[in-house]
Amino acid sequence: MDAPLDRDVERVLLSEEQIRAGLERLAQQLLTDYSSDEPCLVACLRGSLVFTADLIRRMPIRLRVDFLHASSYGNATVSKGTVDLRLLPDPDEVVGRRVILVDDILDSGRTLAAARRTLLDLGASDVKTCVFLEKRVPRSVEARADYKCFEIGDEFVIGYGLDYAGRYRNLPYLAALRRDLVQRAR
Ligand code: IMP
Ligand code: MG
Repeated sequence: MDAPLDRDVERVLLSEEQIRAGLERLAQQLLTDYSSDEPCLVACLRGSLVFTADLIRRMPIRLRVDFLHASSYGNATVSKGTVDLRLLPDPDEVVGRRVILVDDILDSGRTLAAARRTLLDLGASDVKTCVFLEKRVPRSVEARADYKCFEIGDEFVIGYGLDYAGRYRNLPYLAALRRDLVQRAR
């Protein structure tokens, strides 16, 4: 805990070991539900990069991977309320296929709701949502996590793919950022 990034951490919420155990549990559920299909995991960039990479290596079945790029936060810790979907998956990967939409965290629900609608419009036969974290907060839109690794309270977290102003995605554990480094940009 003394590398440059570690010094910005207030406390560790999930250690690497806890994360590994959560991944094993989740992968087993997905394997039970999808082993007779060839699902496409659509990973929301950039936050689900680390989670997706770890998850698919625990799923030894036929599957496909594609991406979409969603952004809603800018440089703040509070969502700006609209979701921009930029890069979209190749329709050939999605049409008629069961899709597992993967994101780092379900917070307001806007990102997953918008991405889910887009995937159904592209022709996915079924879209289920799968997140590393679900925040226990009232949702402003109807969105749910069909699969999740962990639940957390209402606080801003970094690491394991999650960023603050573009930083900290490469922390291998989940943490709360030191308060003096957080600028609440409401
Ligand atoms: P939602 O659209 O409000 O559900 O937000 C989802 C997106 O906001 C996630 O994909 C993250 O990129 C980002 N986000 C939400 N909460 C946090 C957090 O605590 N830390 C870092 N990013 C977050
Ligand atoms: Mg983000």
